[in-house]
Amino acid sequence: MSRILHLSDLHFGTVDARLVDPLVDLAHRLKPDLCVVSGDLTQRARADQFRAARAFLDRLPAPVLLVPGNHDMPLHNLPLRLLAPLARYRRAFGPLTEPQATLPDAVVQGLNTANPLVWKSGRLRRASIRRLERTFSEAPTGHWRVAVMHHAPVPAADGTPADIADPAGTLAALARAGAEIVLSGHTHMPHMGLADTAAGVLFLQVGTALSTRLKTGSNDLALLSLSPGVVRVESWLSPPGARGFEPGPARTYRRLDGVWNEVDKA
Ligand SMILES: [Fe+2]
Repeated sequence: MSRILHLSDLHFGTVDARLVDPLVDLAHRLKPDLCVVSGDLTQRARADQFRAARAFLDRLPAPVLLVPGNHDMPLHNLPLRLLAPLARYRRAFGPLTEPQATLPDAVVQGLNTANPLVWKSGRLRRASIRRLERTFSEAPTGHWRVAVMHHAPVPAADGTPADIADPAGTLAALARAGAEIVLSGHTHMPHMGLADTAAGVLFLQVGTALSTRLKTGSNDLALLSLSPGVVRVESWLSPPGARGFEPGPARTYRRLDGVWNEVDKA
């Protein structure tokens, strides 16, 4: 049974410094097999912000799989944004923007949805879809197929429409590729659930783990526990004024014959 710690939207540059040590401590207590960061490591893609993000990731207890978000491309340096939007990201974290991780019961594929040509919304490129199809087709039977992408192709918790080009086409491409779980961020609002048109894909969004740019009043993260046919998702929240994270809602989903259903609420 693998455990994945899902963090997102760290936004180094606008981090609540009081939460950094408690988050590192919690991560060690939860003993994940993999840490996932679904984009927006920095606030403005500055070199010092990437260095701070890198120093934070180095303190986490397990291997880290991360993908870029829209904030990880320079906003005001247009030549850099257009010619090498992820140069600083790569300098901090290495060359791969679509890394892959294999756990004993899951294959996790990162996807880069950052789009330098627009202000903040995302795009899933054809090459990324092909990579996902290849990864998942080669994954052993019975392994969970997990995709990680900053922008989700489903609405946010408050109903805000998906902030990605062609959400319906993206959703269909993920389902066709065999994605069973998709981990995202970007909205700064935690949200779990299924898309109406893709009952086989469970969408799990977390808000911001560390940033002061809150939409829900709390920082949050999630721990996924994978077992055969079942995934349990435990939220951890840091409400206003708190100096650490406390357990939030937990949900359990079962996938049977290619369809997800929620088992219980706690
Ligand atoms: Fe974002």
